[in-house]
Amino acid sequence: MSLVIQEVSKKFITKHKETYTLDNINLTFEKGEFICLLGTSGCGKSTLLNIIAGLEKPTSGRLFLGDKEIQGVGVERAVMFQQDALFPWLNVLENVEFGMSIAGISKEEKRERALKYLKMVHLTKFQNSYIHELSGGMRQRVALARALTLDSEVLLMDEPFAALDSQTKTILQQELQKIWWETKKTIIFVTHNVEEAVLLADRVIVMTANPGKVKRDIPIQLARPRRLESIDLTYIAAEVMRELKEEVEKVAKIEYDSDWSIEKDTVLYHPDSNLGIGL
Ligand SMILES: Nc1ncnc2c1ncn2[C@@H]1O[C@H](COP(=O)(O)OP(=O)(O)OP(=O)(O)O)[C@@H](O)[C@H]1O
Ligand SMILES: [Mg+2]
Repeated sequence: MSLVIQEVSKKFITKHKETYTLDNINLTFEKGEFICLLGTSGCGKSTLLNIIAGLEKPTSGRLFLGDKEIQGVGVERAVMFQQDALFPWLNVLENVEFGMSIAGISKEEKRERALKYLKMVHLTKFQNSYIHELSGGMRQRVALARALTLDSEVLLMDEPFAALDSQTKTILQQELQKIWWETKKTIIFVTHNVEEAVLLADRVIVMTANPGKVKRDIPIQLARPRRLESIDLTYIAAEVMRELKEEVEKVAKIEYDSDWSIEKDTVLYHPDSNLGIGL
């Protein structure tokens, strides 16, 4: 079923200020699409994801999955966050099973599904381990297995690999693509990493900041499997980066002193500075 976001706006009103976070978002995601939401820090990516998850209410606007209106959380939309939110007092298997406790699933079925998805993320061997015994990458795979057990049509992921080292990130990006292929889920994946977005997505939604709007909806038509080092991917990533750069500068003008600009920054642009490939 397609997921429709219709005229969604969000204002946060606190004692000291009012933040206009999302302004009239209109998007339709088709079943099975892999969508990346890309934007600078604070542009409202997590807010939009939380609204889709039903964890946050929009100030105005409506959401539909097929012809059913979405209100609040539901088993057809599973969420995975940047921090794994796993329980240290439960082992891996119990943590994965815990995800199903709201869904009214029998004990036997819970066990069966947990083992199925632990196998999918290659953690069967570690089912009896405790969370402190696992690396960051393994923890995120436990969290992914837990999100998958709901057999939801939509999987919402908020920067799930952002805290991982680049090798672990690469492995998990490959695994996620395979799982997406196998499960045919609609995945909405938040990132501020352009390469990651172009590697994973069928569509990259570039958001503007203050207030958050859809700036560009870019289809990524690269053949799969994709490789980060491929020339085609690098070329498209550079194009997407240009869209994003305007937003980075806009935010920088607000957050930095008025005499600062990216172009004028002597450290970044001095010919003798060696900050590695890509700058
Ligand atoms: N619960 C809240 N109360 C008040 N303001 C909020 C709340 N949640 C988010 N905001 C504000 O909304 C704006 C967008 O926040 P959000 O977390 O959605 O951005 P983001 O794009 O996910 O940023 P990041 O890349 O840093 O995770 C920010 O200005 C933030 O201060
Ligand atoms: Mg966020």
